[in-house]
Amino acid sequence: MLRIGIITVSDKGWQGERLDKSGQVIKESLSLAGASVVKYQVVPDEAALISGRIAEWADGGEMDVILTTGGTGLAKRDVTPEATLAVVDKVVPGLTEAMRAETSRITPTAILSRAAAGVRGECLIVNLPGSPKAVRECLEAILPVIPHAVEIIRGEVTEHPAPPGEAK
Ligand code: MTE
Repeated sequence: MLRIGIITVSDKGWQGERLDKSGQVIKESLSLAGASVVKYQVVPDEAALISGRIAEWADGGEMDVILTTGGTGLAKRDVTPEATLAVVDKVVPGLTEAMRAETSRITPTAILSRAAAGVRGECLIVNLPGSPKAVRECLEAILPVIPHAVEIIRGEVTEHPAPPGEAK
């Protein structure tokens, strides 16, 4: 079972001025997908705090994937991608490229998200945009490949599945 940590990045959420609907959407989508949420926290849009939390959770070995939501846009306080990239060993651009490409067909402003993804140790970290709708759409785009990504990160697979209808 995939073990997930959720970090909601939101000044308003952290101050208790906004209900964290996006964090709830992630929890619900992941339960439906059979994953277990082992940690959840709301942090303000402060790069050092975001980087620190990601590094601490990834190094703790309790989770396979950390999903963040929020702070990926163009506003002055949007620093989640920079905070993420500061603490990953490897960048995984394809995940967030796919999120933007696939979901921009539904929501053209999806291309305004600067969301990043990467690997720290044996933990995959993926930024999601902040709105519940964006979270739903983006998870739909990337969830199917996450289990395989985690297996590769853990060194559990050396072979890759052949595309449907193609012999290996
Ligand atoms: N992606 C999808 N799939 N659906 C959306 O509604 N909203 C966009 C974008 N990505 C959106 C989306 C908008 S309007 C913004 S400003 C950026 O995500 C950044 O959002 P954030 O700063 O809350 O992370």
